[in-house]
Amino acid sequence: MHTYARTSIPMTTLVTGARGSVARGVVTRLLAAGRDVRIASSDPTALDPAPGVEAVRLSLAEPAADAAAALRDVHSVFLYAEAAGIADFLAAARAAGVRHIVLLSSAAAAAPDPAANPLAASHHAVEVAVAESGLPYTVLRPGAFAGNTIGWKYRLLGADSIQLPYPDAQLAPIHEDDIADVAAAVLLTGDRLGETLDLNGPESMSFADQIAILSDVLGHELPFVEVSREEALADLTRHMNEGYANALLDLWQHSVDPEPVSGTTEAITGRPGRSFRAWALDHREDFAGLAAPRG
Ligand SMILES: NC(=O)c1ccc[n+]([C@@H]2O[C@H](COP(=O)([O-])OP(=O)(O)OC[C@H]3O[C@@H](n4cnc5c(N)ncnc54)[C@H](OP(=O)(O)O)[C@@H]3O)[C@@H](O)[C@H]2O)c1
Repeated sequence: MHTYARTSIPMTTLVTGARGSVARGVVTRLLAAGRDVRIASSDPTALDPAPGVEAVRLSLAEPAADAAAALRDVHSVFLYAEAAGIADFLAAARAAGVRHIVLLSSAAAAAPDPAANPLAASHHAVEVAVAESGLPYTVLRPGAFAGNTIGWKYRLLGADSIQLPYPDAQLAPIHEDDIADVAAAVLLTGDRLGETLDLNGPESMSFADQIAILSDVLGHELPFVEVSREEALADLTRHMNEGYANALLDLWQHSVDPEPVSGTTEAITGRPGRSFRAWALDHREDFAGLAAPRG
């Protein structure tokens, strides 16, 4: 009579950048589906893991010291695009026998000359490294996050109005929960290997339209003024380097026509993407503390 060694196939998913808005949604969905999850952050002390979830230290910018332990028995990975440490992370993932990496990249990576555009370059470099690693992968390329509009709250806490250089710029903002839905579905099924998925929201709209919807949901007007590109550049470079700021301004300047809706959320999850109004309703609390304008 033969006896057979019992082999167990690890089915743990490592979710990196675990404090991020998309990562948190991915964790919730994987746990709800019964997947074993390990969460990793550059500051694991800031995490509040669900029962049974292991939280480990991993800085994607400097993963060498921690990656092997973070990847032990890991089958699949939700990965943020951090160019600085990607080579070390992928070497550790190969050594650990990882079977699927789902990379959160950016629509910016599709730029015709990524090297000339700092928004594109870092994401493109990580996409290339993942594709050349020999590991099975899926790339997610979302466009503008609806959550970027939370920046307007901070503007309004220090000034009378939101400053917009291109109020008519057209984008189809995506809810972070749609990205999490797609990422979790791909991680759970193991489908879409080798594919790059373009993701955006269900409706193209201008910045002025987004402000009107937010104002309606919050019950008071969010005032905005149109400013010159130079004024907007001066404002943006308080928070980011000039290369990134100019890349964003170029994107908005050229977003004249409605952004085509990719339909990827619906194709993968079977239901339409969440509207910007739904995002605003979900995030009313994030705009708390804004006084209604006088007058
Ligand atoms: N915003 C857009 O319009 C847009 C468009 C296309 C693609 N993307 C991509 O999506 C990424 C952003 O995704 P996201 O919104 O899920 O990430 P996020 O919330 O901006 O967080 C990004 C990372 O910052 C780290 N972090 C450091 N301090 C933090 C803190 N106090 N709170 C929360 N996180 C902190 C986290 O990693 P640790 O936990 O390891 O520290 C986290 O993964 C971008 O970096 C870009 O690659 C964004």
